[in-house]
Amino acid sequence: MHSIDISGQVAIVTGASSGIGQACAVELARAGARVAVNHRNSAEEAGETLEMIRDCGGEGTAVQGDVSVEADVERMFANVVEQYGTVDILVANAGIQQDASLTEMTLGQWEKVIAVNLTGQFLCARAAIREFLRRGPRPEISRSVGKIICMSSVHQVIPWAGRVNYAASKGGIELMMQSIAQEYAEKGVRVNAVAPGAIRTAINTEAWKNEAARDRLLKLIPQGRIGEPEDVGRAVAWLASDLSDYVNGTTLFVDGGMTLYPGFRGNG
Ligand code: BGC
Repeated sequence: MHSIDISGQVAIVTGASSGIGQACAVELARAGARVAVNHRNSAEEAGETLEMIRDCGGEGTAVQGDVSVEADVERMFANVVEQYGTVDILVANAGIQQDASLTEMTLGQWEKVIAVNLTGQFLCARAAIREFLRRGPRPEISRSVGKIICMSSVHQVIPWAGRVNYAASKGGIELMMQSIAQEYAEKGVRVNAVAPGAIRTAINTEAWKNEAARDRLLKLIPQGRIGEPEDVGRAVAWLASDLSDYVNGTTLFVDGGMTLYPGFRGNG
């Protein structure tokens, strides 16, 4: 049986104190990786992620740092390399929303979302690739020198009124991811993205917390259910493993069909 096995590898998951990042950290640990659980200022919640990792027999460590701050990212990677020897897998997950209609959106809201969602992924990807190249191949551990999984969103393709900062950041992630993949494929690095739809986490509580909102949301999801963080975590673990060795520069949508234009069912 082909099961996901990334034992002997070290993963960093940014924004791993809650939601999708937490599930990614747990699924990677379940598949055998040692996992650095990054958080910005949620030491307690990061501790819960570590507990979940230990509960399934895994090993992990918490690393504090703001992904939008260059010095934090450098320190975070240095810490993990010091503790675990190297980094094999980066899940660039940390992301935020600061919603406002365009005319109400402040420059601060625009810049903050771009800084965390896009610049943060750039800084982490750069640090990861530098480490992959420094360490070099270990074919007994993985067919890739290193793997990066960028957390995107269905909003890398679906425009989103009232969230131009967020949609722009996710659209940017796609071409950043593909450009990095094109640049480093020949060095043995694989870079892919996962684009979740509506996943039950704190970022979108408003969209599912009461029945009316949930009904509206479900109209957008052909599969008829809101996603769970593990739905995304399992896709990420597969992309991090050699089972996906020939997958490079692609985006895997994990959205219950949200990008299938469900409004066209019986319409158009
Ligand atoms: C957003 C969520 C939203 C989902 C589907 C995600 O990227 O962060 O707030 O529910 O896309 O629209």
